[in-house]
Amino acid sequence: MAETIVPFEIDVAGQRVIFSNSKHMENVDAGSVNLVVTSPPYWNLKDYGDSDEEIGAGSYEEYLDDLNRVWDECYRVCDDDAVLVININSRRSKGEFYPIAFDIVARMQGWRFWDHNIWYIPNALPQPNAYRERLLDNKFESLLVFTKGDGKSYHFSKPRVPQKYAQADTRDNKNSNGRCLGNILRIPAYRPPNIKSMGYHVAAFPEELVAFLIESYSRPGNIILDPFLGSGTTLKVARVMGRSGIGYEVHEEYRDLIERRISENWEVPDWKDLDILHSATMKTGTGKPRKAQFAKNGKAPEINLFE
Ligand SMILES: C[S@@+](CC[C@H](N)C(=O)[O-])C[C@H]1O[C@@H](n2cnc3c(N)ncnc32)[C@H](O)[C@@H]1O
Repeated sequence: MAETIVPFEIDVAGQRVIFSNSKHMENVDAGSVNLVVTSPPYWNLKDYGDSDEEIGAGSYEEYLDDLNRVWDECYRVCDDDAVLVININSRRSKGEFYPIAFDIVARMQGWRFWDHNIWYIPNALPQPNAYRERLLDNKFESLLVFTKGDGKSYHFSKPRVPQKYAQADTRDNKNSNGRCLGNILRIPAYRPPNIKSMGYHVAAFPEELVAFLIESYSRPGNIILDPFLGSGTTLKVARVMGRSGIGYEVHEEYRDLIERRISENWEVPDWKDLDILHSATMKTGTGKPRKAQFAKNGKAPEINLFE
């Protein structure tokens, strides 16, 4: 029988790491956090280590109830303009489909569901054998965005990329800082086949994803919380982007990995690298030139939007 974890806190390069169950975040003051970025464990999928307090081992109902306890705690520790972003997708088990993302939204209390962005994962794993010939391969995960307030007062910096055909676009109202990056982010997952023997975390999300969210929904100096810290990705990116991070992780055995990762050097990406249209590796099925829609004189130039 696993022992109950005794909460303890360490400082890693100015970031707070708390080894404890995030259903109880007593070490964090009410109203002190500005942004929560997290990827919770999937129900009944992975065993991250030896702890009775790990969420996801019981029934599906218990799993959703446990997650709600964490979202309630996030609500308590967040300020009134805070944003909560949950990275999650659905799950199949024994022939049943569990729409975890939808169920989280349906059961959420207090937090207001505000937006739904997509993480497109070009190298996502194929479906398990049992479903391989009956389902399309899944290539995305959800980014569920909730606001604590009314959806009007949260901080937002819209990531933009250069407009590729700026000269061809004759509209007067185009933004001189470029076009919006959009709500589908193309980011490969880091998943080498020997990930376990490398001592790495089996479910880490990419730094680029966290950077995009921190850029969009927080300011330098803000406090960022991850209640499911895993290998420490959120705090690594928070440090590089000048934010103060707080992370909860139930498994103390990740301590070395967390310390190493938070201290690592890393550069914030050029947002172009996350853009689904500009990606250097993307080829569409046809590659056919398309008529641009914005020509005013009816003579639209033929341009290849995908080169
Ligand atoms: C999907 S992983 C997060 C990975 C993380 N985003 C990263 O980049 O490494 C979920 C993590 O939540 C942790 N966890 C599960 N139940 C928890 C609980 N009650 N309190 C805190 N952490 C928990 C697991 O040990 C696991 O490391």
